[in-house]
Amino acid sequence: PVSGKLAGVKVLLTAGPTREALDPVRYLTNQSSGKMGYALAHAAARMGAQVTLVSGPVALSVPVGVNCIEVESCQQMHEAVMTEVENADIFIGCAAVADYRPEQNEPQKIKKSKDKLTLTFIKNPDILAEVAALPKRPFTVGFAAETQDVAHYARQKLEKKRLDMIAANDVSASDRGFNTNLNALTVLWQNGEAELPCTDKSTLAQALLDLIAQHYKNNQNH
Ligand code: C5P
Repeated sequence: PVSGKLAGVKVLLTAGPTREALDPVRYLTNQSSGKMGYALAHAAARMGAQVTLVSGPVALSVPVGVNCIEVESCQQMHEAVMTEVENADIFIGCAAVADYRPEQNEPQKIKKSKDKLTLTFIKNPDILAEVAALPKRPFTVGFAAETQDVAHYARQKLEKKRLDMIAANDVSASDRGFNTNLNALTVLWQNGEAELPCTDKSTLAQALLDLIAQHYKNNQNH
């Protein structure tokens, strides 16, 4: 490990997009590459943590020393997280989870017969909010992708979901965030905030984990 700041600490993360099936050959998904989540998993392992990564479908290799559980849908991610979270000291929800899924996952391929096809969606479970609401919960960190008033909306999310920390990024800038190697974060907690300026996701992951480690340890001491 490059530093022992998280030696012996159990870190659970989610990363990547989810796939919400419509039928056996079709699904809905989003632009998440999983790069930020994988960079965090890698950095946490290098800091000495025991890392479990629950990952949606991505084109990345699992970092050395990281235990990866591969899932597709939000429901599968939810199930894996709820099983693993009992053992976690820190939970970081980095996945771009689909907020809704098709009400029907058709058992057979949908035929091209009707002129108009209407889909109905139902709300997916909010994995992060559920983890934060557990009676014995880990130090819980969420992400927020915003296109305006980043710090304002992120603080609302921090309070509404009762998180310990939230990392917010401005997804309106096309040179960073989704599907790129660069990102910048505004990190908020109850009594403060920090700006982590635009850099590669590996350096940024290290900086975010330094903040998380510091606040996690402070919480332990109170
Ligand atoms: O409310 P919003 O979707 O913007 O919150 C984003 C945060 O919540 C991210 O940390 C994401 O991983 C998490 N999330 C989740 N389950 C959902 C939706 C979002 O864990 N169904």
